[in-house]
Amino acid sequence: MSAEDTLFQRFGKEFPKGAVLCHEGEPGKEMFVIQSGRVTISKRVRDVEKVLAILGPGEFFGEMAIISNKPRNATATVHDDARLLVIDPKTFEGMIRGNSEIAVRMIKKLAERLSEADSQIENLLLSDPVSRVVQHILQVCQTRGRPLEEGVEIDLPLRELPGQISVGEPAIRLAVNRMERAGLLERSGDRVTVYDTARLQDFLQYLEMKWKFGEL
Ligand code: CMP
Repeated sequence: MSAEDTLFQRFGKEFPKGAVLCHEGEPGKEMFVIQSGRVTISKRVRDVEKVLAILGPGEFFGEMAIISNKPRNATATVHDDARLLVIDPKTFEGMIRGNSEIAVRMIKKLAERLSEADSQIENLLLSDPVSRVVQHILQVCQTRGRPLEEGVEIDLPLRELPGQISVGEPAIRLAVNRMERAGLLERSGDRVTVYDTARLQDFLQYLEMKWKFGEL
């Protein structure tokens, strides 16, 4: 039996799509590690559900309430049927204290999460919807991009973006089509290949200048 199967036997549970694993504002006594499937982390702001992140295999959540002894700061919902390790506070503490490799990996993930949250703040400060789409694509390239010979490949399901960048899906499609026509990227289903991130960065700067100074 693989180490993963042993862990699943001890801590594993399967959850169907739509199951709510923790609710924002409620106390929480478990943390979760995703073995398969995806989980959406969201926050409710003035009756609108804002997606903070969609987490996949190898990622964890629910640690904040345990570490800080505070209510859940977001809601976690199963996005695609998931296999999760459900870990109680005592086991979690034992894992961190007993294995510095786990502690270091967690610190790295938390630093990535902070950097993604900073990018989201930057994104929401951009007033122009096209700039938000471009900045989001650049950020995904940086954090989850797969280098290819012809550029960087990312997963970009357009239907999932509105909740993340607060831009409507038609406007997102128009922006992506425009970039495709300009030869900045290529889209194939839920995948996008960005040929040259530096050129996309230049395009973002051009949009910002246009927004600031108007048409010249
Ligand atoms: P906790 O507050 O216990 O429950 C909700 C969890 O969502 C939280 O712990 C974090 O693990 C996770 N979470 C909160 N904000 C983010 C974010 N910006 N990106 C990814 N995960 C987050």
